Amino acid sequence: MSEWIKLASQVIERCACLAECTEEPGHTTRTFLSPPMHEVHARIRRWMEECGLQVRVDAAGNIRGRREGTQLSGTLYIGSHLDTVPQAGMFDGILGVLAGIALMESSGPYTFPVEIVGFSEEEGVRFGLPFLGSRALIGDFTPDLLAIKDREGVSVEQAITAFGLDPKCIPAARAESAALGYLELHIEQGPVLESRNESVAVVDAIVGQSRLTLSFEGRANHAGTTPMHLRHDALAGAAEWVQTIERIANQTPGNETPGNEKQGLVATVGRLQVTPGATNVIASHVQASLDVRHPTDFTRKAAVEEMVTAARQIAERRALSILVEPHLDQASVAMDRGLTNLLEQSVAACGFAACGFAASRLNSGAGHDAMVIAPKIPAAMLFLRSPGGISHHPDESVRVEDVAAALQVGHNFLERLGGIQ
Ligand code: GLV
Ligand code: MN
Ligand code: MN
Repeated sequence: MSEWIKLASQVIERCACLAECTEEPGHTTRTFLSPPMHEVHARIRRWMEECGLQVRVDAAGNIRGRREGTQLSGTLYIGSHLDTVPQAGMFDGILGVLAGIALMESSGPYTFPVEIVGFSEEEGVRFGLPFLGSRALIGDFTPDLLAIKDREGVSVEQAITAFGLDPKCIPAARAESAALGYLELHIEQGPVLESRNESVAVVDAIVGQSRLTLSFEGRANHAGTTPMHLRHDALAGAAEWVQTIERIANQTPGNETPGNEKQGLVATVGRLQVTPGATNVIASHVQASLDVRHPTDFTRKAAVEEMVTAARQIAERRALSILVEPHLDQASVAMDRGLTNLLEQSVAACGFAACGFAASRLNSGAGHDAMVIAPKIPAAMLFLRSPGGISHHPDESVRVEDVAAALQVGHNFLERLGGIQ
């Protein structure tokens, strides 16, 4: 077995080991600073210390393992996130953190310091706002974020304090101003690499995303006695709107992007909370999430506007009231040209084409920590094939040879970066 395959197998075993740390028995569910994150940190701390990294947890709950460089230089940050969606797979985010640790095990020290970061939050599940961990790294964790509450009424500030951290120290989590760069290894979470029989791809850009909550307010009444024409059914209104979302997304033109054939608008209502939620009561209140993405920010924003207008029109026709709460308007972002070229050279140098693997560039439809980091620190991303194109699902998987390929590329990238320092 090659050294890279051995290291890749260890990365996969460790992903499985962290998947045991969960809020929901029988599934992997881990949101921002929930109790199982203590055990995740304990395991990662051990693995980081075993390869000689200096470990700390910053006040935003990011675990950070650092190795100094042999010369004076800016730091290269390598990372991804440790939180998950509900009932997640084992690899989204986690793989990038464990691959970073594996790279420290297999090589260095370099002329530049390297810091491996396991971000506390990227998915936006608990507080509706994603990237809490990486926002702290770039100094964009503004004090107003501390007041946001989860569905149980616990604020970000309370969650941080309950985890044993001091929210006042969040500014100290900021990366140094002259950082060398940020590298993120991540599963593709889509079908493109598999359809092209490619092992890895270099990310060109990450598409923009909007997240909102829309609340439809009607009137509860008896399901048996209220005639259909006298109802103010919040769920019937929300259901009509969900259909409209799908139609708008299908009708919005896509963009030609490198490697992704045509990337169109995607819009998702992933959560409906129905009140009072009884079989024999007309729904009085529905809270709906909305997630909209497109490579062109103008097209995305115009689609969101059309979707909100549609909600207002549906509500008016049905005599419902509507409340719109925007949470996120994250612009699409290009990866750093210099680091991305270097990553592409690293892929080429590993010679995967010779053994049946090619490599191309790809746009990311998923959001990543690199998305908020890129405007402040030069960032590059490498994708690994997602078998079946499946992610945000327990069936999410990786091939060991693809993880080995990604590690080899990462190693080559670090060597090259050292060479130009
Ligand atoms: C993160 O996984 C996202 O793209 O929603
Ligand atoms: Mn995810
Ligand atoms: Mn992810």
